[in-house]
Amino acid sequence: MSEKTTAPSPAPGTKNIKVEFEDGIAWVILNRPEKRNAMSPELNREMLGVLDALELDDRCKVLVLTGAGESFSAGMDIKEYFRETDNATPIEAMRVKRDSMAWQWRRLMFFPKPTIAMVNGWCFGGAFTPMVACDIAIAADEATFGLSEINWGIIPAGNVTRAVAEKMNTGDALYYLMTGESFDGKKACATGLVKESVPRAQLRGRVREIAQLLMKKNPHLVAAIKIAYRRVKEMDWDQSEDYLYAKAGDTYASDPERGRQKGMTQFLDDKTYRPGLGTYKRGD
Ligand code: COA
Repeated sequence: MSEKTTAPSPAPGTKNIKVEFEDGIAWVILNRPEKRNAMSPELNREMLGVLDALELDDRCKVLVLTGAGESFSAGMDIKEYFRETDNATPIEAMRVKRDSMAWQWRRLMFFPKPTIAMVNGWCFGGAFTPMVACDIAIAADEATFGLSEINWGIIPAGNVTRAVAEKMNTGDALYYLMTGESFDGKKACATGLVKESVPRAQLRGRVREIAQLLMKKNPHLVAAIKIAYRRVKEMDWDQSEDYLYAKAGDTYASDPERGRQKGMTQFLDDKTYRPGLGTYKRGD
């Protein structure tokens, strides 16, 4: 009897976004290198479909957002996102903004799998929002960052100022927002904007290492923990206490791996591991 084989479905890439799968990692590549990966309305709309597809695709266990060529992203497309929508009707203009915000922070922040921004090069203005919305950001030392809005006469909207306020320390945030001066990966790390900065030659390897570490954990718990973190940041302590107990109960009840029971049994009864030093044995 012949075994039924299913051809792998194609990667959900589009005109402006390339997706590559590698051992559980989905490399989501902003792919307009000739425009320094500036984010156009078309790219923004495409990204919504890409994220929808990856959410359900088992080849994606960790999503890495990065850019083709020498750039992460030069921010919003000044021609297509700004100039060409100046005369749009209010409804058209609202749609363009909504598509952009829908993925650049909302969908990314609450994406049910871990997300890593791999900042490989130029990173300006609007690019700060998806970078900050990823769970972890790792930059190349050689990357160039800039809150360049002041340099061309706008304020950092597109939730850029909010994103900066989330991660960057206040002194640096105001300095770079007001001066538009550029800075490198090491400085981005010192301000809190990215978690680490490594030489460009090591960037992909370091990101792969972090992705592999995340993949060793119970994915159901990883998703619940990141979403809980994002939610409680906006709550007071009474609300978060209540929310977290409810979220915890729901998470354990719906955990296909029954991690909590395994963790307790292996520590308290089998004495096969120490939770302080590593994860319980998964599987079975
Ligand atoms: N929007 C639209 N087009 C952009 C763009 C953006 N944000 N960033 C770069 N491009 C386009 C350029 O217009 C140019 O197009 P062309 O080949 O049709 O003339 C092409 O990409 C290459 O840009 P160029 O400036 O020649 O590349 P560079 O390597 O010398 O410089 C940057 C790279 C990123 C420093 C420079 O392109 C830049 O300052 N971009 C704007 C960054 C910015 O302020 N972004 C904030 C937007 S909110």
